[in-house]
Amino acid sequence: MTDEPLVLGIETSCDETGVGIVRGHTLLADAVASSVDEHARFGGVVPEVASRAHLEAMVPTIQRALKEAGVAASDLDGIAVTAGPGLAGALLVGVAAAKAYAYALGKPLYGVNHLASHICVDQLEHGALPEPTMALLVSGGHSSLLLAPDITSDVRPLGSTIDDAAGEAFDKVARVLGLGFPGGPVVDRYAREGDPAAIRFPRGLTGPRDPVYDFSFSGLKTAVARWVEERRREGKEVPVADVAASFQEAVTDVLTRKAIRACKDNGVDHLMIGGGVAANSRLRSMAAERCADAGIRLRVPRPKLCTDNGAMVAALGAEMVARGRAASDWELPADSSLPVTEPHVPGAGGALDAHTALHTAGHGHTH
Ligand code: KG4
Ligand code: ZN
Repeated sequence: MTDEPLVLGIETSCDETGVGIVRGHTLLADAVASSVDEHARFGGVVPEVASRAHLEAMVPTIQRALKEAGVAASDLDGIAVTAGPGLAGALLVGVAAAKAYAYALGKPLYGVNHLASHICVDQLEHGALPEPTMALLVSGGHSSLLLAPDITSDVRPLGSTIDDAAGEAFDKVARVLGLGFPGGPVVDRYAREGDPAAIRFPRGLTGPRDPVYDFSFSGLKTAVARWVEERRREGKEVPVADVAASFQEAVTDVLTRKAIRACKDNGVDHLMIGGGVAANSRLRSMAAERCADAGIRLRVPRPKLCTDNGAMVAALGAEMVARGRAASDWELPADSSLPVTEPHVPGAGGALDAHTALHTAGHGHTH
């Protein structure tokens, strides 16, 4: 179908410069430039380094995506960009680039939420999202259970982490084990060789009086660190694969248990899992087993679409266009703490079509 919206999406909330192009639910291009190697020696993302890398990668990555998709910039129906949450300086580069392209091309601009994008990306893999969508969102900065009756306008948090995010726990445990940064993929790799039942690590907030949908991973992280320190003090070798597997088992056990509980309590027959940690092989296999047992349909995008990318932003942007949501205006801010309840940032004046946008902006800023 050619009447589906053709949208380019820009993602710069952390260390990935992502540019994706989609037509409706079809992925046409997914170009990503990562500065992860530049952060590795610091053991975490350095905001200033990330911003500079975005600045250098932005235009070439946009050009690569357009080439990959085989479309002309003039054919686009809109430009979507992550407006937040994320690192302020990093977001700013993407927002400024999106404004420049939208302005120059006379296209509407859609500032969208990074977290809603992590959910919406699954439309590129499994077609239209069910309504409501039950989503487990697990990334480096967030871990939440979300119920979304409409991913473009209505996202409701059921619970979230009260301390560390799931991805953060992976990163910290990797550091304790001396496995480098980012921790998720390398812990995942080691865990495949280990015994998940070797060490019984604590499952946070799973007691009878604990909040049902909230998560806590800080106690688990501390338990792993203590266990490893103790072994080292005793002069014994640390069984890295067993620690990784046992830690990973504790995280995925809690995540899947609570997500399935949320589906059952809310009468939802499917579960969507998104965010960087959704790339985890054990989370994927455990969720598949447990969802099958519970009669719940599981939707998890392929790993490359789980970690940060531009296609997810384009996917949500295309949905905004398809549903006639208001475009953003030229005042669109980069909002490092944009709440998950705001899937997009419409302009104060409401809907703004491309022509008016260009016209108004031209009058406002060129004379
Ligand atoms: O969504 P994402 O790419 O960026 C944020 O929005 O935060 O998520 C990044 C997080 C990191 O903490 C990384 O360690 C984790 O996702 N991650 C994984 C895996 N791949 C990435 N965690 C566990 N297993 C993986 N295979
Ligand atoms: Zn993310």
